[in-house]
Amino acid sequence: MSPALLLLSGPNLNLLGERQPLVYGTDTLDDHVARARAAAEARGLDLEHFQSNHEGALVETVHSARGRCAAIVVNAAALTHYGWSLHDALAAFDGVVIEVHLSNPSAREPWRHTSVLAPVADGTISGLGGLGYELAVEAVARLLDERSTAH
Ligand code: DQA
Repeated sequence: MSPALLLLSGPNLNLLGERQPLVYGTDTLDDHVARARAAAEARGLDLEHFQSNHEGALVETVHSARGRCAAIVVNAAALTHYGWSLHDALAAFDGVVIEVHLSNPSAREPWRHTSVLAPVADGTISGLGGLGYELAVEAVARLLDERSTAH
C-alpha cells in the first residue's frame, strides 16, 4: 500500500481561479490538487485532499491523519497567520509537514508576515504559485526517503 499524503486547504481557497487572480493566479483549486496528485503518484504517494472554510474541520482532519498518513502538505490560507488550534493539531502529528503558499506572504501586508504554522512545519514553500504544490510533494517524498533510510 502506498504511503498516504494529506493535502489540506484552508478558507477561501475554494474560490481560487476567481479570487484575486493577480495575486493567486487563474488556476482553480482542482487544478492545483491535480498537479499535486500527479507529483504524488510519480513518487508512489497516495494523495487525499480536504478543503474547508472552518478551522475545526481542518483540525479534525489533521487528527484523522494521525497514525494513518505519512505526511501533510498544508496551505492554511488566512489561518496560517492566527490558527493556533491548527498549529496544535499539527504539533500532535508525527509525520512530515510542509507548509505551502501560492503568494509570498512575507512580501505582502504585515499581518501576513507571521505564520503560526511555520514552527511545526518541516519547511515552507512560498511565492512560486502552483509550482509550490509540486515542490512540496517532492520535499515530502525526499524527507520520507531520508527518514526511512535513517531507521
Ligand atoms: C495564501 C496566503 C495567505 O496570506 C492568504 O490568506 C491566503 C492564501 C497563499 O497561498 O498565498 O488565503 O495562503
